[in-house]
Amino acid sequence: MAIERTLSIIKPDAVAKNVIGQIYSRFEGAGLKIVAARMTQLTREQAEGFYAAHKERGFFKDLVDFMVSGPVMIQALEGENAVLKHRDLMGATDPKKAEKGTIRADFADSIDANAVHGSDAVEAAQVEIAYFFPEMK
Ligand code: PPS
Repeated sequence: MAIERTLSIIKPDAVAKNVIGQIYSRFEGAGLKIVAARMTQLTREQAEGFYAAHKERGFFKDLVDFMVSGPVMIQALEGENAVLKHRDLMGATDPKKAEKGTIRADFADSIDANAVHGSDAVEAAQVEIAYFFPEMK
């Protein structure tokens, strides 16, 4: 099984709920190592750049507004099959559709405020990690 890295963001709703530690425990319990981490308040420019692929979508402004509404915790996770493993831990984008026991089922309130982001492929993860952690090799 390949050792991969993936980008995780704990979004403003989950940071406000004070569940960073509970989410980190799930990563660690699944064998994902936190190899970089930073708490930050995203600028509008950073959020728009990060979600540039979605800029034509109807929800783009709401998504950016939400992502700049409070601090986020951003981390790179490393482990076997990290991209898929992390997506399984997160659950579906819409928490109403997320499987029981997933992060979004347990901590997210709506599709707009859905607690976490995770890269959807290894190539995307490389781009996203470089976006927030340019110093990482
Ligand atoms: S797609 O079609 O698979 O690329 O889209 P998807 O992964 O479902 O969503 C892309 C990101 O947009 C967020 N999203 C929304 N935000 C606000 N409102 C609505 N209705 C909405 N629908 C999707 C979704 O959470 C994804 O953000 P990340 O940070 O990747 O989870």
